Amino acid sequence: MKSLCVLLLDAILLASFVEDSETAGRHATWSKQFKNVLETHRFKTEGGSWTPDPSDLLGEYEVEPPVRDTNAYFMTNNNTVVTVQVGTTAALRCQVFDVAEHETVSWIRRRDHHLITVGANTYSNDERFQVTYSEKTQDWTLHVRYAQPHDAGVYECQLSAHPPIGVITTLNVIEAVAEIGGGPERYVQIGSSVQLTCTIKHFTEPPTYVFWYHAEHMINYDSNKRITVVNRLGESELRISQVTKADSGNYTCQPANARPAFVSLHIITGETPAAMQRASATEVQYRLSITLLSSLLALVAL
Ligand SMILES: *[C@@H]1O[C@H](CO)[C@@H](O)[C@H](O)[C@H]1NC(C)=O
Ligand SMILES: *[C@@H]1O[C@H](CO)[C@@H](O)[C@H](O)[C@H]1NC(C)=O
Repeated sequence: MKSLCVLLLDAILLASFVEDSETAGRHATWSKQFKNVLETHRFKTEGGSWTPDPSDLLGEYEVEPPVRDTNAYFMTNNNTVVTVQVGTTAALRCQVFDVAEHETVSWIRRRDHHLITVGANTYSNDERFQVTYSEKTQDWTLHVRYAQPHDAGVYECQLSAHPPIGVITTLNVIEAVAEIGGGPERYVQIGSSVQLTCTIKHFTEPPTYVFWYHAEHMINYDSNKRITVVNRLGESELRISQVTKADSGNYTCQPANARPAFVSLHIITGETPAAMQRASATEVQYRLSITLLSSLLALVAL
């Protein structure tokens, strides 16, 4: 009974479709479709249950996906990755041709659906964001100045067509770090020379400068002729010849846009490293005897 009702309803629905269709050809197709539907129903209802399948009814007359009403097209590759170092400027490109007068190109941060720019205007309160448009290259580049780790994520350059379409860029922000070889403590004989090598890791752009500090003093351009700094790509070397007691203390390697590295320099007088080890061994003995003494005292007290 139930399926009969459904069948009847379908028949009415299809009948109205038939009425709507104008050309004879279409009419023929509909009739064929109608016959198919009836046959399917008969077949399926035999089992006692029938679930209407929309494709049975609509068939080849299914609604076509909406046509995007735009002539614009993107030249920037979709789903690209841009990697920058902390503190540098990230440039996310968006080249799109044949943008109509009424269309706009926007940049959106996917994480929070933050609308950053619309056309040439920046909507974000964050002043580090800026869009530049080049008429020559039809490029709407989003600049993120002083990029920070929290800027990492997915950005979309969107064209205001119906429905909208865009290209996606993933921004990675990495932090470069400095490292001084030879451990955090260095021991040097007085009068000898020492060489501290600072290597910068994970950099995308070599640092524009590397400053060396002795305690609070920048020593790159020190008048002291015993100190020299040699910079190579991603590496800086500090050399101190004929070290004196005054050279002891903390040394910092501070590259532009990278986490700094420290080393503590100890100047040894007369003693060899072996002598130093003996000294520390004596200290252990001394501590042990203190412990023994206090244990003895504790026993006496009992
Ligand atoms: C870019 O890729 C996304 C999926 O990652 C897609 O939704 C979008 O339509 C693509 N854009 C273009 C212009 O093809
Ligand atoms: C050297 O640097 C370390 C770590 O930054 C710090 O703990 C120490 O106090 C510094 N020593 C001197 C003499 O500045």
